[in-house]
Amino acid sequence: MTKHVSLDDDHLKIFRDDILSGLTAERKTISSKWLYDDVGSHLFEAITELDAYYPTRTEVSILEDNAASYLRLPGARGALVELGSGSSRKTDILLKAFQDLSVYMPIDISANHLKAAAERVRRAHPSVAVIPVAADFTQPFGKLPLLPELPVLVFFPGSTIGNFEKAGAVRLLRQIREAMPAADLLIGVDRPKAETVLLKAYDDPAGVTAAFNQNLLQRINRELEGSFDLGSFAHRAIWNDLESRIEMHLESRSDQTVLVAGNEIAFRRGETIHTENSHKYSEDAFQEIAQLGGWKVSAMDADKDDLFSIFTLAAT
Ligand code: SAH
Ligand code: AVI
Repeated sequence: MTKHVSLDDDHLKIFRDDILSGLTAERKTISSKWLYDDVGSHLFEAITELDAYYPTRTEVSILEDNAASYLRLPGARGALVELGSGSSRKTDILLKAFQDLSVYMPIDISANHLKAAAERVRRAHPSVAVIPVAADFTQPFGKLPLLPELPVLVFFPGSTIGNFEKAGAVRLLRQIREAMPAADLLIGVDRPKAETVLLKAYDDPAGVTAAFNQNLLQRINRELEGSFDLGSFAHRAIWNDLESRIEMHLESRSDQTVLVAGNEIAFRRGETIHTENSHKYSEDAFQEIAQLGGWKVSAMDADKDDLFSIFTLAAT
């Protein structure tokens, strides 16, 4: 059995309080971290297979081209800590190249998905000690299991950093830096590109991203006795040029009232719940975020079409 550490014992209360505070705010908003229950994690995996969703295959190609060169980082022979590890499929590329790695610690909020991925990695890479941690990485890292005295490489792929607003991204980078002061950080960052390409990636013709977004309402129905009628909320993907980000919203198709954990939530027709931001960073814009977070850029790798970047960051 893979050892499984869970840090959020009071998960349901945290979820309820966060959802209710988001739905009773002047502008309704829900953190994108709640998109990932079991169903949401599987829908995200389906998104990564879509032709329209370019980030996954692009980041995979960058990893394949550069994995051997990442062996220069001391942590490649020590401990690999991954934030938002999901299926750990991208990690396989590193694990194959990092033959002398001792420890792999995937951290993810989606506990069952994490557990299944960790068991798969254990079977595929038996020489590595796999220590999965089910946790919200926006919470203090103080409770993480202690790593043995090894050099550390932090892996944060997917452009999940783009799901944070600037202040939150800087805070998270600083928290990683403070928790693992000597580590290097390998971080995937999506770049600005043609609006048509972005809109198709976040509102795909097969409707998988729409299902991913709407699953949030189903999750609230399942876990918080919600009464959302899915057909009454439309998936919307919007390019916000000023903030250089794609936004996902769920738009109410009518004036309606919905029950959530015994509370009545009123919606006007056209009103939205803002469910995700996905910021797209130029090289300079990300360099600024990294610096504010206490890191310096030591390398940057990209694909041949410059769609996506993987930055190597070192402690300043
Ligand atoms: N790394 C994978 C998955 C990216 S999807 C890839 O690149 O394809 C984002 C992942 O981060 C999901 O697995 C989700 O469950 C996890 N996640 C999102 N917010 C989180 C948070 N606050 N704490 C921990 N994990 C989080
Ligand atoms: C995990 N994250 C970086 C994805 C993104 O592209 O922002 C989540 C996602 N949302 C819609 N499609 C994929």
